[in-house]
Amino acid sequence: MNTPLIIDGKAVAAAVLEECRVEAAALTEKGITPGLAVVVVGDDPASKVYVGSKARTCADLGFHSVKIELPTETTQEELLEVVRKLNADPAVHGILVQSPPPKHINEEEIIRAIDPRKDVDGFHPENVAKLALEDPTGFVPCTPAGCMKLLEVSGIDTNGAEAVVIGRSMIVGKPMALLLVSKNSNATVTIAHSRSKDLPGICRRADILIAAVGRPDMVKADWVKPGAVVIDVGINRVEDSSKKSGYRLTGDVAYDEVAPKCAAITPVPGGVGPMTIAMLMKNTLQAARQISNSKL
Ligand code: GUN
Repeated sequence: MNTPLIIDGKAVAAAVLEECRVEAAALTEKGITPGLAVVVVGDDPASKVYVGSKARTCADLGFHSVKIELPTETTQEELLEVVRKLNADPAVHGILVQSPPPKHINEEEIIRAIDPRKDVDGFHPENVAKLALEDPTGFVPCTPAGCMKLLEVSGIDTNGAEAVVIGRSMIVGKPMALLLVSKNSNATVTIAHSRSKDLPGICRRADILIAAVGRPDMVKADWVKPGAVVIDVGINRVEDSSKKSGYRLTGDVAYDEVAPKCAAITPVPGGVGPMTIAMLMKNTLQAARQISNSKL
């Protein structure tokens, strides 16, 4: 038993947001108010909460904030038209379409329709390529960028470390692996997923374990090497009749049994979650700077 470092994502996010507030004021002073548009289609309650929170944070930092809520029946063409309008709007530097959209929407086509210079999610193929190329003019997806920031400010040395990422999504797993293996980080990276043989055995090799699968409490104590650093990206709603809302949030890691084995761990909530929005604000500032560069 030991006492792990509990990585305080709320505090780190607050510090990043304060930097963003200062930079937003400086840009606004030069006549460029950073602007972010968030679009959500349908009425998934979690998506609505996330999008509301993104728009509110924007407004709070003095950004121009646009929130577009569209009904579930919105067609592909209607959504493409919304994206095209935002591409053409000079007050909007960043565009985010909340994932996942309803099933009838072809998300891939929507992502490709976003101007890559405004793709603050970093999902457009041009930005995916820039991440692989380690080109800093690209946008890094917000959640993995937030995980890297947490490792950095917690003083965790990734150089030469064995990192295991569970999950291969384009939103978290794949970009996370690219960031960890990049020349800024120099980890040795394994991407594991639902079809991996002996997932517990692979995870036990990890000095740094990143769980991004969306399965409540999947990572157990015997999956974790003593002294490992565990970053829990999962935000799962599980039924809990003792809560007013009827649910509670839990991560992909069985926190209570895993934490005592770790050198450091992120809690859920209050770990990676708050970082996603903070990094989104940073990306929007990057977009505003890059798009307005010739005017500065
Ligand atoms: N759904 C869950 N995370 C994200 C994210 O970072 N961006 C978007 N657009 N949708 C998400």
